[in-house]
Amino acid sequence: MKDSELFALAKKAAENAYAPYSGFTVGAALLSKGGKIYSGCNIENAAFSPTNCAERTAFFKAVSEGEREFSAIAVAGGKNLNFEENCFPCGVCRQVMCEFCDGDFRIIVGNDREGIKAYTITELLPESFSL
Ligand code: THU
Repeated sequence: MKDSELFALAKKAAENAYAPYSGFTVGAALLSKGGKIYSGCNIENAAFSPTNCAERTAFFKAVSEGEREFSAIAVAGGKNLNFEENCFPCGVCRQVMCEFCDGDFRIIVGNDREGIKAYTITELLPESFSL
């Protein structure tokens, strides 16, 4: 699976975002080492703190179905499905990625103006906490 294909799936997943409070719609497409795709979107809540990011939705779907090994995630986000800037995973989502992924796990971000770019989780969360 090409990075550009995974990113296109992330944009598609953003169509299901439930973001009535921020209007910021995010989609994620998580690729397992076995080649399966798990999509996710952000799901907001009136009480704010129960809000779940697209990346964690994808991870929790996958792990809850028995998946434990991942190679990459693509993330696409912006106001009302306009993908004009990169949407980098928040710190909480980076920590969740660290729980299940090796240091070479790839995070693909991008936008419609500049295209896509890939980072490793080690680049985005160096010196991470683990037990
Ligand atoms: N959000 C994500 O889903 N993923 C990110 O990487 C950044 C932020 C969501 C959370 C909230 O619903 C909205 O974007 C604005 O913060």
